[in-house]
Amino acid sequence: MEHKPQGMLPLELMVNHPTLDAKHDDIFCRIEAIKESSLAAETPPGDEVLALVSCFARHFATEDELARELGMEFSAHAREHAQALHLLDKACADLKSGRLDLRPFLRYLEYWFEHHINEFDKPLGRRLARPGGVRNLRAPRVGSDAGLTA
Ligand SMILES: [Fe+2]
Ligand SMILES: [Fe+2]
Repeated sequence: MEHKPQGMLPLELMVNHPTLDAKHDDIFCRIEAIKESSLAAETPPGDEVLALVSCFARHFATEDELARELGMEFSAHAREHAQALHLLDKACADLKSGRLDLRPFLRYLEYWFEHHINEFDKPLGRRLARPGGVRNLRAPRVGSDAGLTA
């Protein structure tokens, strides 16, 4: 990916946890970059969409790990993550077969992600900010979120 916008996370969507805010920003930047790629290319940027899905999966695993370290009830939040990954997998298949338009899907994904941050990630951020909360991940089990720990 040649051009990667930076700083796409609106202030009102910050959860005030450095790892989570950095990854949320990265995801919004990736979505924006895919939009730009799709304007420039005749074929949908499939590899970038697959990378985005992997990024979501690693991020969800990071949140799951943080909640587990807190001993926080996380089942509803985890269910949202599982449903999103199922939808993203289906979207990838539909994009590949030409049954889904990329740009409307990206708009939906941004809307979904904003809603998810407001309804699920902000409460997690508030729990993490309490005394005894987890500011940094010690040893993430999945993916490359390790580079984003503060
Ligand atoms: Fe998140
Ligand atoms: Fe989440």
